Amino acid sequence: MNDLFENEKVGSRERLGNDAFVLKGFSLAIADDLLATVAVIETISPFRHMMTPGGFTMSVALTNCGQLGWTSDRRGYRYTSVDPITGNPWPTMPTQFLELAQAAANEVGFADFIPDACLINRYVPGTKLSLHQDKDEQDLGAPIVSVSLGIPAVFQFGGFERSDPKTKTPLFHGDVVVWGGADRLRYHGILPIKNNTHSTLGEQRINLTFRKASFSELKS
Ligand code: SIN
Ligand code: FE2
Repeated sequence: MNDLFENEKVGSRERLGNDAFVLKGFSLAIADDLLATVAVIETISPFRHMMTPGGFTMSVALTNCGQLGWTSDRRGYRYTSVDPITGNPWPTMPTQFLELAQAAANEVGFADFIPDACLINRYVPGTKLSLHQDKDEQDLGAPIVSVSLGIPAVFQFGGFERSDPKTKTPLFHGDVVVWGGADRLRYHGILPIKNNTHSTLGEQRINLTFRKASFSELKS
């Protein structure tokens, strides 16, 4: 039934804020390719459960591609150019990933988005991502582009204080959320994933989050 619901909305757009949108099904046409590429990336930099600075193990498993990768350990959250597990640079961001992120950003008015980081999150039923702000990036002028693949999730989108009211938006395979500008620092998170099965991914959800983490070193 989820697929039916999803298909009815493909091509439409939901507004979550002045500068925040869900583009329904925006990545659907290339979703299989994206997943095949994630499968290659994870052979180079595997999914892992990172430790938060507070000492908790994250229920989301993650890896990265791009010049910078988001990492967490007891010392804090930060971006690194090297995968701490392999000691090697993160896998290169595939052109297809870059082009998808740029096209989605452009679609809602963020021209010239050049992400240098792609965080790849993997969820299974029960996994959640607690409410947080994306604020480890140096350039808050660039938007966030977040691609949902696999089983559905509920995206919470709040205000600038953790306790502000939140909207709850279901995200399906192929949906892309873009937020930036006035909404760039809004709290957001993923509610615990419900049991479900996706035809390609089984009981998994993969999320690609594109960000510009550095200031200007990639501009030339
Ligand atoms: C994130 O906030 O980094 C990921 C959100 C998502 O999984 O959709
Ligand atoms: Fe986030």
